[in-house]
Amino acid sequence: MRDPSLRRSLALFRAFLREPSEPERCYELLARDAAGQVERFQPLRGATVVDIGGGTGHFTEEFRRRGAQSFLFEPDLAELTAGGRRPEGAVLADGYLLPLSDGSADVCFSSNVLEHVWDPVTFVSEMVRVTRPGGLIYLSFTNWYSPWGGHETAPWHYLGAERARARYRRRTGHDAKHTLGENLFAVHIGPTLRQVRARDDVRVLSARSRYWPFLPGVITRVPGLREFATWNLLLILRRCPS
Ligand SMILES: C[S@@+](CC[C@H](N)C(=O)[O-])C[C@H]1O[C@@H](n2cnc3c(N)ncnc32)[C@H](O)[C@@H]1O
Repeated sequence: MRDPSLRRSLALFRAFLREPSEPERCYELLARDAAGQVERFQPLRGATVVDIGGGTGHFTEEFRRRGAQSFLFEPDLAELTAGGRRPEGAVLADGYLLPLSDGSADVCFSSNVLEHVWDPVTFVSEMVRVTRPGGLIYLSFTNWYSPWGGHETAPWHYLGAERARARYRRRTGHDAKHTLGENLFAVHIGPTLRQVRARDDVRVLSARSRYWPFLPGVITRVPGLREFATWNLLLILRRCPS
């Protein structure tokens, strides 16, 4: 599917809506889509790819299908095995401190992890460290003011995280998976863009909405509006030669 296009965005959105009942289908589609985005900037065949916070491993499997040597690093055993299987060669490891030497990856990939770490700056620095000079960094996250910012409590997080959690509990009879300040953090687009642009070890190749069908790179340039309309920020960074 062409990216960006209305057809692609609708297909991704439908798959997302059906994620609770058809998770495999949803994540396989998302993985194919993300691998295609990576390949626009860096060939995957023969590349060493590091997938940080890769959960059940759909992205790693797609990178391998495309000829990459892909390694999955995931700190949470429950996430890793949530699909009823443990992805081959997965490593239980935290993205803050990867068991990798400097510059060992051609591509360092992280999808929807940044909003789950309490120190995003350190997380990004570790991604940069393990990427070789000239290598690619794919970093995508859902920002707090996105309509999906509150995750399963969205869009009620706009009324406050606590209120949204209480409402979720009332409606479902159980606690939401995510708690703001524990395993979900309010990451914003403006400050994140400023942080990566201020770094002298990476160049920003693309800063766009990951899923938008039209002009996905334009919305991220409009302060204020971008915090609500981007939904999910995708940053493609090139590690500068040292
Ligand atoms: C929403 S899931 C995303 C999974 C997958 N990357 C995707 O896009 O579908 C967030 C993942 O981030 C992982 N995570 C949370 N804190 C992390 C950390 N400090 N280092 C690496 N991964 C982390 C979680 O365990 C979880 O698997």
